[in-house]
Amino acid sequence: MITVIKNGTVVTASETTRADVVIEDGKVSQIAAKAHVHPPGTSAGGQPSDDIETIDATGKYVMPGGIDAHTHLDMPFGGATSADDFESGTIAAAFGGTTSIVDFAIQYRGQGLRQAFETWLTKAEGKAAIDYGLHMIMTETSPSLLDEMDGMVREGVTSFKLFMAYPGVFMLDDASIFKAMLRARDNGGLICMHAENGGAIDELVRRALAAKNVDPKWHGLTRPSRLEGEATGRAIALAEVAGVPVYIVHLSAAEALEAVAEARDRGVPVLAETCPQYLFCSYEEHLAAPGFEGAKYVCSPPLREKWHQDHLWRGLARNDLQVVSTDHCPFCMAQKELGKGDFSKIPNGMPGIETRMYLLWEGVRAGWITPNRFVEITATAPARIFGMFPRKGTIAIGSDADIVIWDPEREVVLSHKTLHMKVDYNPFEGRTVRGGPSVVLSRGDVVVQGGKFLGKPGRGQFLRRNTRALG
Ligand code: URP
Ligand code: ZN
Ligand code: ZN
Repeated sequence: MITVIKNGTVVTASETTRADVVIEDGKVSQIAAKAHVHPPGTSAGGQPSDDIETIDATGKYVMPGGIDAHTHLDMPFGGATSADDFESGTIAAAFGGTTSIVDFAIQYRGQGLRQAFETWLTKAEGKAAIDYGLHMIMTETSPSLLDEMDGMVREGVTSFKLFMAYPGVFMLDDASIFKAMLRARDNGGLICMHAENGGAIDELVRRALAAKNVDPKWHGLTRPSRLEGEATGRAIALAEVAGVPVYIVHLSAAEALEAVAEARDRGVPVLAETCPQYLFCSYEEHLAAPGFEGAKYVCSPPLREKWHQDHLWRGLARNDLQVVSTDHCPFCMAQKELGKGDFSKIPNGMPGIETRMYLLWEGVRAGWITPNRFVEITATAPARIFGMFPRKGTIAIGSDADIVIWDPEREVVLSHKTLHMKVDYNPFEGRTVRGGPSVVLSRGDVVVQGGKFLGKPGRGQFLRRNTRALG
């Protein structure tokens, strides 16, 4: 089967060109001003055939499908399990123009990495509708687990998330973090860090609850941005001494960005992502909303005061932040209600796997980022950083034909009633955005078109990722 995307404007991280894109066997085979195709077994002048499908992209952008490098599907957390599994989550992702995700397998205390890997493969297999990779969350760094890291890298699980927060659940002390960093230096793995000072936060939470401060806004008030800045600086210092790059996940605060920018200015290999919720939502407008409304916005790090947003947009524009991923970790309101009367029991996380590209395009429309930068932060940079480039994250001869045909005129009202995530609210409920996917292809298969899902659960393949390529 040959597919030709005709008359579109092809946008990659580095170029914008009017070109046709030809897809054969799931891969891009030609990018040309006027594509010449002939069905298998005929001459170059052969007649149009049923074996050739043409998609007209006049007036539209033809861009690499998005890569969401931070999702939590079917994840047990805080007494609940995230509401999207690999089927509903990846279908929702596809509707939003995302064609690959990297989710997190969790090594719980007392378990091995392989056990965690197999558990998460089982969750994904037969369900995922788009391709998926896995990071590994490590909650211990015993000698045998450090040895297992090498095996995981060989299996294509080449990044490891460590936590400086959530004492007693995920948090590692500095020595344990440092050991994992030293091992990553030797095996080429990438350490991804949740950077918040968990010990200090726990004490603030204890004091808030003792003073009967129980509303959702206290989630924010007990996790000050300074403690994210401190942990980010500490993570960078440990990585610097270990001689290994570090990737800061879900960066939310100006103080943390300052630590990243300072290190990068000195030539230290530090990378960081932020998420749409930190670019578009704030403590005062959302988390501190009256009653229990703020529970919808409880995630960690918490939403910050609005002034942080300008810093984050600037960080994206000047490449101190390289990636926007979602940290998609949705909980329905009944699950959030576990924390009614005690904010510390509200399951942490927000939905976003489907809305990332729509929201980021708002940044393009506002002139804060160019279309090329949009492609870079939603697809190309995550592909490079997490060892998927050039198979994923670009439109080039030989790349997987993971493509989103983007209609800049399409108007969409974001609502949980019409989006496809399995969660009964949306943080952006009622917001009208302009620009969205009209056709989405995954390895050449049309998976979304005309507002319909045309793919199949289970067609997604596990991505064996290479080690980091940070250039
Ligand atoms: O609130 C969040 N971020 N939930 C998901 C877990 C994590 O720390 O990424
Ligand atoms: Zn985290
Ligand atoms: Zn996360």
